[in-house]
Order: sequence, then C-alpha cells, then structure tokens
Amino acid sequence: MLKGKHIVLGISGGIAAYKSAHLLRLLVKQGAEVQVVITPNGKEFITPATLAALSGKPVVSEFFAANTGEWHSHVDLGLWADLMVVAPATASTIGKMANGIADNMLITTYLSAKEQVMVAPAMDLDMWSHPSTQRNISTLRRDGVIIIEPASGELASGLCGKGRMEEPEAIVDAIKSYFRKSETLAGKKVVITAGPTYENIDPVRFIGNYSSGKMGFALAEEFAGRGADVTLVAGPVSLETENTHIKRLNVVSAQEMHDVCLSAAEGADCVVLAAAVADYTPETVSETKIKREQEDSMALRLKRNPDIAASLGREKGDRVLVGFALETDHETENALHKLRKKNLDWIVLNSLRDPEAGFMKDTNKVTIIGKDGSTSSFPAKSKREVAADIVEAVLPSLKSQE
Ligand code: CTP
Repeated sequence: MLKGKHIVLGISGGIAAYKSAHLLRLLVKQGAEVQVVITPNGKEFITPATLAALSGKPVVSEFFAANTGEWHSHVDLGLWADLMVVAPATASTIGKMANGIADNMLITTYLSAKEQVMVAPAMDLDMWSHPSTQRNISTLRRDGVIIIEPASGELASGLCGKGRMEEPEAIVDAIKSYFRKSETLAGKKVVITAGPTYENIDPVRFIGNYSSGKMGFALAEEFAGRGADVTLVAGPVSLETENTHIKRLNVVSAQEMHDVCLSAAEGADCVVLAAAVADYTPETVSETKIKREQEDSMALRLKRNPDIAASLGREKGDRVLVGFALETDHETENALHKLRKKNLDWIVLNSLRDPEAGFMKDTNKVTIIGKDGSTSSFPAKSKREVAADIVEAVLPSLKSQE
C-alpha cells in the first residue's frame, strides 16, 4: 500500500519520540521511503543513529551538515515528499507550525511542504486542553493539516487523560487511509468555474459582483486532494491555488469564461459551476473613458450573456454537472427549478438569508439537492469542509460512470 511513497517523518522533542522509531519501522516495512527530520530537542529523546539505521538515510536536523557545510534543502524535501507526518508533535512545535516560526529544520520543511501534512500531537492533558494549544490546532486544521487526535490514557507525567500520541499502528492506518482517499478520483477529469466575472463598460469601469471565489477554489483543492485532474477556470480573484496539480485558467468576462470552460470541459467527467457569472453585459464597450454628461441620469443597454451551465446541460452525455444557487426566497423551489432548467445532476443551494452563507465569507451553509429531489442539509462549516461534503455527495455519480 505504501510502496514507493515518499514520506517526511518530523520528530519533535517529547517522550513519545521513542515510539517514532517503531512508526518509522512500520512505514519502511510497508514499502515507504522515509526521510527523518528531527528538531534539536527531539535528539534528546531518540538518537539520530537509530533513526538513520531504520530509515537507511542520514537524519536531517541542522540547516547545514556540520562536517561538510552542505546545505540541507527543505525546499527539495517539499518537492520530494508525498506526505509529511509530524509524530510526535509537541505543543511547542504545533505552536511554531501554526504561526510560521521557522527556527528549526522541521518547521522550515513544513513551511516549504507542497504535500499533505499530518500531525500526531503528544503532550500532557492540561497542555492539550489549553486554549492556546486548541487555537493552534484549529489554525492547523484551517490550513489543511490533518490532525491525528491524541489518545486518552496514562501520560508521562503520571496523570491520566487525553494527550498521549496515537499508537504507531493507528498512525500508519491514518496514513494509508489518506493515500487511499487521495486516489479515489484518480483518472477523473474535473472542471470548476470560480469567482465573479467582470463585464467592461469602458477602459476603467466594469459590472461585477461580490463573489470571492473561495468556494470554487476550496472545491478545486478538495477534488485535487482526491487525485482528480482539476482545471480551475477562475474569474478575477486574489486567491492562490495550493495544490500544484491544479491547472488554473484565468478569465475576466462571462463570454471568456464560457469559451474557456466549454473547451476545458471536452472529455471532462464532471463540471462544477461555482462561479457567479454576470447574466448581462454592456451591448457596447466604449473604447475611451465615458465622460460625465450634464444629464442627471444615464442608461446602459445590456445584452444577455451565454449561460455556461445551460450550454453544458444541452450536451450532457454522462458528464456529471453540479451547479450552485444563491437564493433569497423560495430557496428549494428555485434551486430545483434551476437544476431542471439547466439539466444538472446536483445543485448546491445557499441562502442569502443565512448569515454564515454567501459572498466574501469563510463559511457556508448549504443544502445539496439531487436531480431525484433528494436533499441533504448541512450546518455552517468552513468552505473547505463544505467542499468535502459536496465531493462526498457527488462521488457516487462519478463512480457510477465506470
Ligand atoms: N451559471 C452559468 N452561467 C451563467 C449564469 C449562471 O454557468 N451565465 C451557473 C452558475 O455558476 C450556477 C448556476 O448557473 O452554478 C445558477 O446560477 P444563478 O446565477 O443562480 O442562475 P441564473 O440562471 O442566472 O438565475 P437568476 O435569475 O437567479 O440569476
């Protein structure tokens, strides 16, 4: 299962570091190639010689090799690795990771990591439950780090409670289930539209909307995280993509988004229409800046833009189409009407009446409606978590194409 996988094992300074030798051995036995990166304190708990012998690779700890002066490249490690696992992660290392305090090789490696990162915390129960630790854990979760929750039991302090690093076997299970999940959509081609469109009026003005693109970008990360080949057609937004496998195509107007999306959708297994596309565009775009006239009012004549979702719905085949509906009233009724009119398989409804939903927000509260009328409603969650719910919901349709 782990054959050929490149794993960076980060070890920080806690008693549980002795278990990391066992974890390392299990990973190597499963066929993984493991590079150990240890903090200076970690070396107080387990020797680099043991770890080097078990991994078959020199352990990395300092920025420079003491004898040769050779620079240890954390950037190269980030490119080499398929996964980084920090076990044990002490409260201090978790705090540094959450806040970008790059004072050792483990943290610089984390900050350069392009791959998924997992953290197995280990500390005393009071340290674990301290608001500061919990705040840092939430930050890491928001940053996309997978937390392998500590177990409850006897702790090094003699106290009993939650804080004990999860057993190496359970960490290996979490690693395997991550890799299994990351391959669920391997070979699937997914196109996602995101963000607003800008419709030019003249060289300095446009008609736009408040869409931030966050939902579409979160979906792109989620699909890519499961191994899909993702093309993200993005309107003008100030967001970056994290997963280097996402192919991003930037567009400005609705017509441009339509053309780029339709061509990207050729041969796609799934298209998710998360963009807030302008329904109308100025009939003519002035080549020069429109000057203020003496009149008290002025009129702009608009013409209809193409409907990307409907165009794709007309030539649907067995491609899975997922649309969005942002409504203010008669929400379910309007969303179902849109789903039918545009020939979609799924529609994700969010209501502008919900304070946690909508434009510019980090959270969303959605109801996912299928073409058979089935509905699943979810509580308010981060857009990344909502993206995971959406992918889970549409997964059966994607799997049934096989
Ligand atoms: N959509 C699209 N192209 C358009 C307009 C909308 O692909 N020109 C997609 C959106 O990305 C969304 C779905 O269609 O997935 C519904 O968008 P919405 O703006 O709510 O639908 P409209 O048909 O424009 O309806 P309304 O009258 O409510 O604006």
